[in-house]
Amino acid sequence: MDFNAQLQAYRERIEHGLGALVPAATTRPARLHAAMRYSLEAGGKRLRPVLVLAAADLFGAKTDALSAAVALECLHTYSLIHDDLPCMDNDDLRRGRPTAHKQFDEATALLAGDALLTLAFQLIGRHYAATPALCAALTREIAGAAGSERLIGGQMEDLLAEKKNDVTASELEFIHLNKTAAMLSASLVAGGLCGGANESQLATLRDAGRHLGLAFQIVDDILDATADTATLGKTAGKDAKAGKTTYVKLHGLDASRRHAREQSAAAKAALARLPGGAPFLTTLVENMAARTM
Ligand code: IPE
Ligand code: IPE
Ligand code: MG
Ligand code: MG
Ligand code: MG
Repeated sequence: MDFNAQLQAYRERIEHGLGALVPAATTRPARLHAAMRYSLEAGGKRLRPVLVLAAADLFGAKTDALSAAVALECLHTYSLIHDDLPCMDNDDLRRGRPTAHKQFDEATALLAGDALLTLAFQLIGRHYAATPALCAALTREIAGAAGSERLIGGQMEDLLAEKKNDVTASELEFIHLNKTAAMLSASLVAGGLCGGANESQLATLRDAGRHLGLAFQIVDDILDATADTATLGKTAGKDAKAGKTTYVKLHGLDASRRHAREQSAAAKAALARLPGGAPFLTTLVENMAARTM
């Protein structure tokens, strides 16, 4: 199967999984479940669940990784809903639609985020109960990535940095590593765990995710500064408006593009050490570095 057909097949599995594993929009309280599905069904690249499924396939996927993939997308979507709230980045547009708090209201958006975060762990607990060691490893990995020292810690420092005009390159790297790279690493590792990867392969997946995550957030910062709102499906130019210290503000566009290419190359070098050289993931990394949305 060529890359695009494989990507399409993964995305179809993910859409089907989201449809089956997230409560129906009519489930009581319908307003809450409708809000959860509103943000999930707006689409998005589905990068994290694709990483889960593709990493699992590298090792022959001993256990079905779809529930873990759906859990990662639920967690990611929660982080976007909360990221957009007026008390955070105060954004009106996400995935080409009004943000959850604009479409519903702030309290509903807050609760929909809470519910998606919780659902992620409910899915892991429910679907991997037959393999307790895997269930525990997935929980540890995903909770670690989503927790106060990683995703949420990165978000905290991101907000604190808005109030400072002397943010250093190493502070910004901490933010990128945690708010973004942690979840990409955890996605690859979760896939590896489902597939039955050994310790050294898991470490390689973690390393690849770290570099992919850095490249991904540098490109996100570049696109915020250079792309238009219609293409992005989220408001362009908002980082500069909010006075955020981004990669572009700190390093300039040319160096940002170069560093993104370097991180992407480092991710590919890590992937080359995996079984079969991980051709699908390698092309995915290339596409993410060259993406326009
Ligand atoms: C946006 O993530 C937040 C970042 C970590 C930069 P994505 O760019 O993966 O957003 P979707 O899922 O495609 O909407
Ligand atoms: C990543 O940073 C946010 C999350 C980890 C949710 P941004 O605030 O730059 O993400 P966008 O640009 O709003 O998608
Ligand atoms: Mg943010
Ligand atoms: Mg934001
Ligand atoms: Mg951004």
